[in-house]
Amino acid sequence: MIGLRRGLVRGARISALGVHVPERVLTNDEISQFLDTSDEWILTRTGIRERRIARVDEAASDLGEIAARRALEEGGLDAAGLDLVIVATISPDHIMPATASIVADKIGATKAGAFDVQAGCTGFVYALAIATAFVSANIYSNVLVVGAEVLSKMVDWEDRSTCILFGDGAGAVLVQPTDNGSIFSFDLGNDGSGAPSLLVPAGGSRMPATFDTVRDHEHAMHMTGSEVFKFATRTVVDSCQKVLADAEIGVDDVDLFVPHQANIRIIETASRRLGMSEGQVFANLDRFGNTSCASIPICLHEARESGRLKKGDTLLMAGFGAGLTWGSCLTKWEL
Ligand code: ACO
Repeated sequence: MIGLRRGLVRGARISALGVHVPERVLTNDEISQFLDTSDEWILTRTGIRERRIARVDEAASDLGEIAARRALEEGGLDAAGLDLVIVATISPDHIMPATASIVADKIGATKAGAFDVQAGCTGFVYALAIATAFVSANIYSNVLVVGAEVLSKMVDWEDRSTCILFGDGAGAVLVQPTDNGSIFSFDLGNDGSGAPSLLVPAGGSRMPATFDTVRDHEHAMHMTGSEVFKFATRTVVDSCQKVLADAEIGVDDVDLFVPHQANIRIIETASRRLGMSEGQVFANLDRFGNTSCASIPICLHEARESGRLKKGDTLLMAGFGAGLTWGSCLTKWEL
């Protein structure tokens, strides 16, 4: 848990936001033309109607670059002024080098350090916590956090229980200092015993690539959906309650709750257990599916554009995913 009352030197805030999603829309009906599924099944079980799909020649850094440029433009900052670029992703361009190195090069962040954060779909919250720590400790003043995913290339399009869930997109935020310490509380968690519930088995040092691993689809995401579902509803509630308690505020004080967009039933169950009203909760997975590390910034952008998220609002964000990891962040929205 990171709380500003715990002796940090100065406050940090989200000072700019940019997103980018590919143009191509893939509907449930289209998927049901090549897979034994239906719009009705997908919509009822997940809340997803359609998702965006990147072009064959597009990788995570390509989507991240555009989101990053938009955030920098909004923040009025030249990329050369960045101190650090952090990319949260589970669909990196390559295992090596970090996608952050590629994004930093594309945008011209010539003076910035760069690294990736791999914390499953919680990556954006983890990266935001790291950015906040660097800024709050007065080490850096201009940190760019990018969540970028091309999950359409990480799923097995013959596995109907996973491929229907995911979509592609990117979001970026600029984290800078503030006098009033607006990012005020984080909670980050992990239970590695749950790693087998959500993983890409091959392609790493445990199971290097062979003809067999390719043939057996071991380079795609494997998931035990029901385990992840139970884990997610439990940890999101606990984690959100921790950051609310740390900030000494109640659920009613939250203006907007933006959870990771994995499944509408997870969002509804967790929100209900937290005691949130429908009007406090933001969801857009019906149109984007699960974009993993990009889902929260894409939601923030839509919420702001639609007037659901306004300057001065108390914002609660929560992520969960492979690891199994979870994390939440309570902040005052200052854009
Ligand atoms: N269309 C039709 N039928 C399907 C489909 C599909 N797309 N997928 C599965 N089914 C079938 C199954 O084969 C099963 O059939 P059976 O009863 O004959 O065996 C039946 O539907 C029920 O399957 P379940 O897996 O029990 O369905 P469930 O209600 O659990 O829903 C789902 C599955 C949507 C995956 C759900 O478990 C879920 O959302 N879990 C959480 C997943 C999640 O959040 N993942 C992202 C985490 S973030 C990250 O880090 C990537």
